[in-house]
Amino acid sequence: MNVQLKNQRALVTGGNSGIGEAVVLALAEAGANVAINYVTHPETAKALVGQIQQHQGDALALEADVSNPEAVARMFAELDKSWGGLDILVNNAGIDGPRAPAWEVDLAGWRKVLEVNLFGTLHCAREALKRMVAQKRGVVLNMSSVHEVIAWSGYSAYTTSKAGLAMLTKTLAQEAAPFGVRVLALAPGAIQTPINQSVWSDPKNYEDLLDKIPLKRMGQPDEIAQMAVVLVSDVASYVTARTIFVDGGMTDYPGFAHGG
Ligand code: BGC
Repeated sequence: MNVQLKNQRALVTGGNSGIGEAVVLALAEAGANVAINYVTHPETAKALVGQIQQHQGDALALEADVSNPEAVARMFAELDKSWGGLDILVNNAGIDGPRAPAWEVDLAGWRKVLEVNLFGTLHCAREALKRMVAQKRGVVLNMSSVHEVIAWSGYSAYTTSKAGLAMLTKTLAQEAAPFGVRVLALAPGAIQTPINQSVWSDPKNYEDLLDKIPLKRMGQPDEIAQMAVVLVSDVASYVTARTIFVDGGMTDYPGFAHGG
């Protein structure tokens, strides 16, 4: 099996930390040229660009808040100028928002989660698909979560955004398939990144989390990144319109390992 992305032009949103950063590095290692979108910490995006240019291929750092459609359009215009378009989009940028039950939640904060996770994905996918449909080639990979199917108290905006992503993925996939373009989603479980640091850095919270994972450990960003590379490569040329779960069994309802 040959997972090869030589000469492919990829864009990863939220590419300068956590899972996004691991995906950026794995795509570069597989031979792709990678554009790293970021909204804060330009220095980390630029450091990644330097690292890739030194060891692998071309790389770019592109600032844009994905929830802003004009900023996204400007980012794609930059990509056109530098690389003449793109072949792979990984919609990774996401936030979870503060934890609160829906009846107490701040509405502006709730809306922001939807704007980044769902509208942000739509904004980038629209720009990418325009180009991919015209060139009759390309892959859009949306970063979902186990919470597209598992409810999570206090995070109704996040779970709703991820459930929405699943259907957005399926519908965009149906629209793009006649043009040879694939759209699919990857749903990580508990991956050790800054987004859930308050859980894994506290022994009690960590133990509680491990009870929810049949493999009894958190995942590492690279375990998501490797699967992302496979899914955007021709190894997965017949896979579209689906969410692939990479979650150590979290969606296998480990509570049912005993009792009933
Ligand atoms: C969240 C993490 C969480 C994981 C499993 C992810 O979507 O971003 O904070 O640990 O789901 O619950």
